[in-house]
Amino acid sequence: MKECRHVAIIMDGNGRWAKKQGMPRTAGHLAGADNVRTIAIKASEMGVEYLTLYAFSTENWKRSKDEVSYIMKLPGVFFKKYMQEFIDRGFRMRMLGELDALPPETEKVLHEAEEESKNNTGLSLNIAINYGSQREILLAARHYAQDVRDGKADPMIDEAGFEKYLMTKDFPPVDLLIRTSGEQRISNYLLWQIAYAELEFVPEAWPEFTPQVFERCLQEYRNRDRRFGGVRQ
Ligand code: IPE
Ligand code: IPE
Ligand code: MG
Repeated sequence: MKECRHVAIIMDGNGRWAKKQGMPRTAGHLAGADNVRTIAIKASEMGVEYLTLYAFSTENWKRSKDEVSYIMKLPGVFFKKYMQEFIDRGFRMRMLGELDALPPETEKVLHEAEEESKNNTGLSLNIAINYGSQREILLAARHYAQDVRDGKADPMIDEAGFEKYLMTKDFPPVDLLIRTSGEQRISNYLLWQIAYAELEFVPEAWPEFTPQVFERCLQEYRNRDRRFGGVRQ
């Protein structure tokens, strides 16, 4: 079976899904957070090793103050409910993004989730929060430039060397990128890491992205012919 080690998901459509049910957008974010648990369990059962979820982008600060502050409280609610279960399941939580710009309480909860699960060897559940890929690449370039100035890095590093400066340095490349809710764009997510990922855009909003829909995505992935620039044998 074709390996799918690393799945990344742009969890989109929470707000529209809630509106359709006559609920406020925030209800969509709450349902969306619960679905993170459901899909993480499914991913782990399907043998996925890394699941990288886009929870909040560097551009999402443009939203109303109320919506942003609701989203910032969700990690606290979420990990309070599910942390013990995740530990029991062997999940390892890792964060991508500039956490120090988050409200201090949110930052604390996220660091604790990383800390408490750091010795686990099961699914790596990676949450991108206050994450933007252009920013990530820019920060990597600055850090690398500094290392060159300090004589700590080779001025002629290759791609593999540069990857060590990215927030995803511990992960393999993305095999499959899924975006929910019918939008067909990348919205500043993992631009470097998806160089050869398969892309799937599904109509379901994130709260209605069920384990069955996820299975369908993985089935579709297996039917793809990944060539990486070569020629099919
Ligand atoms: C995704 O759902 C969650 C975040 C971006 C935080 P949206 O909130 O973007 O939902 P839509 O796209 O407006 O329906
Ligand atoms: C992308 O969704 C970010 C997350 C899912 C966290 P958006 O809803 O913010 O993206 P755009 O604005 O439609 O491109
Ligand atoms: Mg959206």
